[in-house]
Amino acid sequence: MNPIFLITGGTGRLGRALAAEFHDALIPAHTELELTSTSSVRKFLSRTVPDIVIHTAAFTDVRSAEARREYCWKLNVDGTERIVEGLLCYSPSCYFVHISSPCVFRGDTVNYTESSIPGPSNFYGLGAAHIQSSRLELSRMRKNSIGIEPSTIKLSCFHNTT
Ligand SMILES: NC(=O)c1ccc[n+]([C@@H]2O[C@H](COP(=O)([O-])OP(=O)(O)OC[C@H]3O[C@@H](n4cnc5c(N)ncnc54)[C@H](OP(=O)(O)O)[C@@H]3O)[C@@H](O)[C@H]2O)c1
Repeated sequence: MNPIFLITGGTGRLGRALAAEFHDALIPAHTELELTSTSSVRKFLSRTVPDIVIHTAAFTDVRSAEARREYCWKLNVDGTERIVEGLLCYSPSCYFVHISSPCVFRGDTVNYTESSIPGPSNFYGLGAAHIQSSRLELSRMRKNSIGIEPSTIKLSCFHNTT
């Protein structure tokens, strides 16, 4: 049986690019999988039981995030934890891929590597750095949490080409 693939944020820039590659993936609309709602996340995951999740849904307006800190944290940090908790409950052997952001770094050099120490200079980056460290904890406990570091695949370049 083919693995069930879920892409969150499938209407976003990165999500659309992934959807074009993974034709069979589940790509729920925002209304079908609302990350700020525990019941929505649980309901969706219990119904679909995905084997692989690429989590790209996020509040990505870096400037507005300063004024909308509470919402930004609620969606990006709590929303990611909600998905992980739901997967641990309904699909515990699922692979979880979270895309981080170059904003975890200060931006004072271009030579960041996976081992560079985060130093966000904005609230959006602070949330992303927080998710990264929680994810590290998760991957220490479990083998199937994969974090793709922004410096590894240069997602900032992706932005410029869309
Ligand atoms: N684009 C880049 O070049 C780039 C570079 C580095 C890292 N990243 C990372 O990749 C991720 C995605 O970036 P992006 O540029 O693709 O973002 P984006 O274009 O802003 O897309 C965000 C996605 O999240 C969904 N979403 C927003 N609020 C939601 C909610 N409450 N519940 C469920 N879904 C919700 C949106 O759905 P609606 O359209 O329905 O609101 C949309 O599909 C982010 O974590 C970002 O940091 C992106």
